[in-house]
Amino acid sequence: MCGIVGYIGARNSQDVLLDGLKKLEYRGYDSAGVAVFTSNGLEVKKAKGRLAVLESQLASSPLIGTAGIGHTRWATHGKPSDVNSHPHTDNGMRFSVVHNGIIENYLTLKEELSAKGHRFVSETDTEVLSHLLADLYDGSLVRTVQKAVKKLKGAFALAVMYVHEPDQLVAVRQASPLIIGVGQGENFIGSDIPAVLNYTRDIYILNDGEMAVLTRNGVELMDLDGNNISRELFVVDWDLSTAEKGGFDHFMLKEIHEQPKAYRDTMGGRIDVQANKIILDELNLKQEDIRALEKIHIVACGTAYHAGLVGRSVIESLTRIPVESDVASEYRYRSPIINERTLVIVVSQSGETADTLAALREAKRYGAKVLAITNVVGSSVAREADEVLFTWAGPEIAVASTKAYSSQLIAFYLLGLHLAAQRDSVKAGDLAELIHALQKLPEQVEELLQQAPAIKSLAEAFAARSSVFFIGRGLDYAAAMEGSLKLKEISYIHSEAYAAGELKHGTLALIEQGVPVIALATQEELLEKMISNIKEVKARDAFVLGIVMEGGADLADCADQVLKIPRTMPLLAPALSAIPLQLLAYYASLARGNDVDKPRNLAKSVTVE
Ligand code: F6R
Repeated sequence: MCGIVGYIGARNSQDVLLDGLKKLEYRGYDSAGVAVFTSNGLEVKKAKGRLAVLESQLASSPLIGTAGIGHTRWATHGKPSDVNSHPHTDNGMRFSVVHNGIIENYLTLKEELSAKGHRFVSETDTEVLSHLLADLYDGSLVRTVQKAVKKLKGAFALAVMYVHEPDQLVAVRQASPLIIGVGQGENFIGSDIPAVLNYTRDIYILNDGEMAVLTRNGVELMDLDGNNISRELFVVDWDLSTAEKGGFDHFMLKEIHEQPKAYRDTMGGRIDVQANKIILDELNLKQEDIRALEKIHIVACGTAYHAGLVGRSVIESLTRIPVESDVASEYRYRSPIINERTLVIVVSQSGETADTLAALREAKRYGAKVLAITNVVGSSVAREADEVLFTWAGPEIAVASTKAYSSQLIAFYLLGLHLAAQRDSVKAGDLAELIHALQKLPEQVEELLQQAPAIKSLAEAFAARSSVFFIGRGLDYAAAMEGSLKLKEISYIHSEAYAAGELKHGTLALIEQGVPVIALATQEELLEKMISNIKEVKARDAFVLGIVMEGGADLADCADQVLKIPRTMPLLAPALSAIPLQLLAYYASLARGNDVDKPRNLAKSVTVE
């Protein structure tokens, strides 16, 4: 996720900016840059790669000045490259902008501005803003920023400078985080508190729709109409490592809490609310290609494979195209039956997993079209696939995947609905109902996160057990597999997931008094059968934790405890049931004193076969 810094004061700004950017490295990035007011006007330096590359360029030819903005970019629109790095400028090098977020209507704006003669050099959405500012400038930077921002759709945090008003910086927040650090004779912008913590602990936290105008001697907060806002300073009393985690104890917990945003970002710009339509403009697959599809294979590893299991049911039920899902390390060696009417979907958070990449190459060799669902722009999978659907979850740092997994589910819902619309395989009313329910998910996740204290107590009880079972039917089975993997990988408690109807064919022998069984019962068509399975384990004195939908299954006589997820359509339930299961794993790991973010024997990106 991009990092923003800004400085205005008396110090050498390039040093403060670099220092701030280093503190934001944990957010993940692929390029970096700074813009500084120098005696030559507005000067910019930016470079693909680690901050050290930019740092060495600045060491050999420094930008001397006491105000500037800086950025670490995590590529979204356009691959990682020098030219796509921020800051971006207009053609006259008068305005400079850094941005975190996504400007959804950038293509329309770009067309309008190009028609007026603006020349674009990058593939980014951000660059439109620097041209837009130049186009709208009316003698006041603050007013111009207000006008420009009102033309933008999407999520953004911005820092802006203008060559002819060198004694101020302007910052805006709209749905992407931004803070202002307040010092003595100097002020700071940061997309997160660590960026400024070496200089000040006095912070203004901007809310959505607010902006700040920073000079050396003060900070003015206002709304986008210019009305002043008064706000108490927030005094940070955390240390730096806590601040990097946004006040959470671990990256995993932070990432669990980032899921409402990850859902919103992944859906952002891809749903036409008025027309009840999914818009996946990034795909080149034409309607005739989609109609001609005979089968789909979904291939991935680990958690991404589990997302693919949900994807399989979603796509099959919406399109009636036969879908198979495979673990990549198996797929590549099983001579899969593929032809040019097969769509192979590879799923990979990192886009670098060796087996997934090999499966992708194998599928292409056989003539299939390959569509990648990935979180990393510029990754090998994104580069080699024919089609890419990005999950906009932002960088995931904890080894155990949470927000990347759930964003993959959102990507599958979007894709399934898109394919269904192109094949006319679902009634318009049903599509509309699903799209409506999909949009409610971020808010419902927020609601679910409130249950963390109750889940913590349950997890503490489970932490003493040596074995846990997860059961479910249909989509609940797929969700159970991910819940089980999450628990075992970070708590080291042995855990297994079973299709609930399969238990009695062997595994039931392991159920004895007190063995925890987590029973997912959100799929209402399968409830009766599921309740019978829960009773089978209860009859063997298992401790049953039921996960049901509000207003759904009543497990009063067969579960010891019940967690409720907000009511949604059964097809979407895995995007909600994932949350309590992630929290359960997190708190169980914590209770066992494990290194939650770096579980033993595991790596974030598995680039070996
Ligand atoms: C578990 C986890 C792994 C990954 C798997 C694939 O929490 O994160 O199972 O899902 O290694 O990684 P990607 O998605 O990067 O291909």
